[in-house]
Amino acid sequence: MPFILAPSILSADFANIQRDVEMINNSKADWFHVDIMDGVFVPNISFGFPVVKAIHKHAKKPLDVHLMIVNPDQYITTFRDAGAAILSVHIEACPHLHRSIQAIKAAGMQSGVAINPHTPAMALSEVIADLDLICVMSVNPGFGGQQFIENTYLKIRTLKDMIHATKSKAKIEIDGGVTLQNASALLKAGANVLVAGNTVFSAKDPAQMILDLKNVEI
Ligand code: DX5
Ligand code: ZN
Repeated sequence: MPFILAPSILSADFANIQRDVEMINNSKADWFHVDIMDGVFVPNISFGFPVVKAIHKHAKKPLDVHLMIVNPDQYITTFRDAGAAILSVHIEACPHLHRSIQAIKAAGMQSGVAINPHTPAMALSEVIADLDLICVMSVNPGFGGQQFIENTYLKIRTLKDMIHATKSKAKIEIDGGVTLQNASALLKAGANVLVAGNTVFSAKDPAQMILDLKNVEI
């Protein structure tokens, strides 16, 4: 099964956002990963609706929007209108997670839930059958370019078993610290989507790095 590669716009050059979006359009990448940070749920602020709309205007591939914000429910339809095709909320930010997932679906998007490194996979047991995407944080959210947390492999295997047992169609996405060195092991463990920010955008030739990532052994 081929996998999905989602370069993270967080590491792009914001003064040349159209150029970087076109680079991804013309590359072998599959999705745009778009990180929204509010400075409350995570200790950093990224960007908001005008930037998402600007990316969407030029993007020829789906926007995979990852909300690292409190009270995400109040913005679900606004992100849909800004161009999100896949929308993920954090389990740690949603007291009524089931309702949030249904609202994402009702708005016509694929529904995702992101889980922090300390959150057990089992916390998703009651909603996993409803999900299209599980965004497994393999760093503590807030910043690009952090070091991958090795315990992620165990979590992927647990999620794989849960998906199998519930016949869920959820894809497992790995977000944070993905490199050319660990991509193959992550895919072999059961990941279906790899996010890559620093690895792609700090490369001398980002399009070539995307190709190299897409060609790792599965
Ligand atoms: C971290 C973000 C990630 C980040 C990944 O909070 O959710 O999507 O952009 O960046 P890298 O690949 O640089 O770790
Ligand atoms: Zn992300």
